[in-house]
Amino acid sequence: MNHHISTVKDIKDLKGKRVILRLDFNVPMDNGKIRETMRIDRALPTIEYLIKRKARIVILSHIGKDSSSSLKPVVNYLNKTMSVGFVPDFRKEEAFKVVNGLPEGGVVVFENLRIDDREETNNSTFAKYLASFGDIYVNDAFAASHRAHASIVGIPKYLPSYIGLLIEDELKNLSLALNHKHPFLFILGGSKFETKMPLLKKFMKSADYIFIGGVLANDFFRDTGIMIGKSFVDNYNFNLARLLKKGNIILPKDAVVTNAINKKGVVKNIDTLTAEDSIVDAGPETIKSLAPILKKVKLILWNGPLGYYEGGFDKGTIELLKAISGTKATSIIGGGDTAVIVERLKIKNKISFISTGGGATLDYLANGKLVGVEAVKKCTKR
Ligand code: 3PG
Repeated sequence: MNHHISTVKDIKDLKGKRVILRLDFNVPMDNGKIRETMRIDRALPTIEYLIKRKARIVILSHIGKDSSSSLKPVVNYLNKTMSVGFVPDFRKEEAFKVVNGLPEGGVVVFENLRIDDREETNNSTFAKYLASFGDIYVNDAFAASHRAHASIVGIPKYLPSYIGLLIEDELKNLSLALNHKHPFLFILGGSKFETKMPLLKKFMKSADYIFIGGVLANDFFRDTGIMIGKSFVDNYNFNLARLLKKGNIILPKDAVVTNAINKKGVVKNIDTLTAEDSIVDAGPETIKSLAPILKKVKLILWNGPLGYYEGGFDKGTIELLKAISGTKATSIIGGGDTAVIVERLKIKNKISFISTGGGATLDYLANGKLVGVEAVKKCTKR
């Protein structure tokens, strides 16, 4: 971090204070069940810090893209280890009664902020309304801090504002990739060039090696005239072949492909695909060929899985993660999907840092700042 930013540890007296704590509880759900709790678990230190100092805590979060998801399952999960109340509609008078009745060290969670459209439009009346529930604002929603929404950039205009322990930790670790050591390996997978191109362009200039997997690699193959059959492409409107001239981009050498006969996948060299093949994962030779680089590098930054992991094609990602966990390099994993796979593998302690952000991590790495963190920095109410 370049400039000092006020954190929850800078707040002198928390006893009895109403703290609005913005968290990112936007966890993946399956039929009302939480599939992965990492974002909740990583928010616990700040919640516990505030409870211990006898604050009265009002937690705000969104979940899902719109108003259709509820935070109730998250509240149930929290209630396994602490006592947390729930306000199903924070626009009703009842919400004030609950907040004003909170004992010292008490916690309440408001329903999904996106039940109100004014959250995403950053409506100032709405931000002021939310601010009226607290004396202090703490933003610890790292993964949502790239969003200029009312609960992220609006509230700091009205209350003394601070960042929480998770954001502090994220910034400390991700800044290692901003001011990185050499040799540096950047691994980029998944899809959506649109959101990843700024980062790719940035690290094209400074990374020693860039390994590209996932759907993004298919676009590279297509643009260099390699047959990729029925593989998914991102259809990014930019000639990627030009980027290969610099020489620091590495593409898969082999791939797991599916076709009408091989539904479970078969390994093929990348230059032997037919019109019927569909690339679903990086192959074993590809992972093996990265070993000498993994041995050499001091820092590894990875965003996005190498294969179609939702369809069960996660072997490439798993093997590369295992190989990384055996190196001495500092390793930083960003982005929801890859982080979920790390959680499952139980190799977490061999990875230096796992970011809780998806878009926010990409944004921070590309631009070195986040609107939500800037809003706290600019706060004049402290
Ligand atoms: C995320 O999951 O990346 C954050 O929670 C932001 O969600 P959003 O893309 O729906 O704003």
